[in-house]
Amino acid sequence: MSDNIVLKADNLHRHYPVSLGIGKGKALVKALNGISFELAAGKTLAIVGESGCGKSTLARQLTLIEEPSSGELYINNEGTAKLGKRQLKHLRTQIQMVFQNPYGSLNPSQTIAYQLTEPLTIHTNLSAQEKQDKVVAMMKQVGLRPEHAGRYPHMFSGGQRQRIALARAMMLNPKIVVADEPTSALDVSIQAQVLNLFMDLQDEFHTAYVFISHNLSVVRHVADDVMVMYLGRAVEHGPKETIFERPLHPYTQALLAAAPSVNGHKTDLKLKGELPSPLNPPPGCPLHQRCPHANERCAQEEPPLREFQGRLVACLRVEEIAAAA
Ligand SMILES: Nc1ncnc2c1ncn2[C@@H]1O[C@H](COP(=O)(O)OP(=O)(O)O)[C@@H](O)[C@H]1O
Ligand SMILES: [Mg+2]
Repeated sequence: MSDNIVLKADNLHRHYPVSLGIGKGKALVKALNGISFELAAGKTLAIVGESGCGKSTLARQLTLIEEPSSGELYINNEGTAKLGKRQLKHLRTQIQMVFQNPYGSLNPSQTIAYQLTEPLTIHTNLSAQEKQDKVVAMMKQVGLRPEHAGRYPHMFSGGQRQRIALARAMMLNPKIVVADEPTSALDVSIQAQVLNLFMDLQDEFHTAYVFISHNLSVVRHVADDVMVMYLGRAVEHGPKETIFERPLHPYTQALLAAAPSVNGHKTDLKLKGELPSPLNPPPGCPLHQRCPHANERCAQEEPPLREFQGRLVACLRVEEIAAAA
């Protein structure tokens, strides 16, 4: 593994046992089915896919909130599977999460000063003055006025609260920030400002981002690499330009076709039917029932994720699709 890689996911699976009701036994929700990637320092991997495809489940595995059913996560070249509680506590300072709703990470009954100081109190030996200096510096860095440090979260606007959440995530200078739809709840007029703040902080601190979004124009703004997910799998993964300029997986093509602002008439592919349940995923290619290119082989064989024309793609018919495009 290259020295530059700060986060590596190796075949992560997460299956949730659920009860089907009295007397009906149990089943598994296959939320995540073998996700692998590498992320270098200072880079952004955007994860995109429609609601229910497993994005937040992936975020919870990456931030050590949950343990994967199988597969392993490497943070700073260190495998996390065999670590004890104390080592995990230390590693958690290196990988922070920002949620869609800042109330998920902010405590409504504590001042901003308290919440920004807390990570420093728990994880460092800094003096009170040093901590205060750092909090003031970070507030300025994220565009908040330090004289507002004594205020409570509800006294700020949604955009400002997301700035506070990001400041808190950055206090220990983490190597990686996982952001799960961080601008989806904000007014469109505010979204660009918060996205620009994410990018400014990345320049300043060389933080790697896993940036989750279902909004392709947001993804195009922030990503270096893009991973497209469908039913807990990666269907296409590669450099942003490759994915946006020449999407090859039918699912990526359909996502782009549904986003006119970023599509630029590259594809007009429409899928049939609805997203299947991860409780009962179809055999073969998970997309085959909805895909206009699917044939009998697609109904039987699961397509491996393989290299093709500068990206990874999981489609048995990608050669023919690329030749026709
Ligand atoms: N704790 C859980 N127990 C059972 N099913 C879950 C749990 N968490 C998520 N799921 C299911 O896993 C699938 C993926 O969910 P999620 O990761 O939240 O998707 P996304 O963030 O892409 O919308 C969904 O079908 C969801 O209902
Ligand atoms: Mg989600």
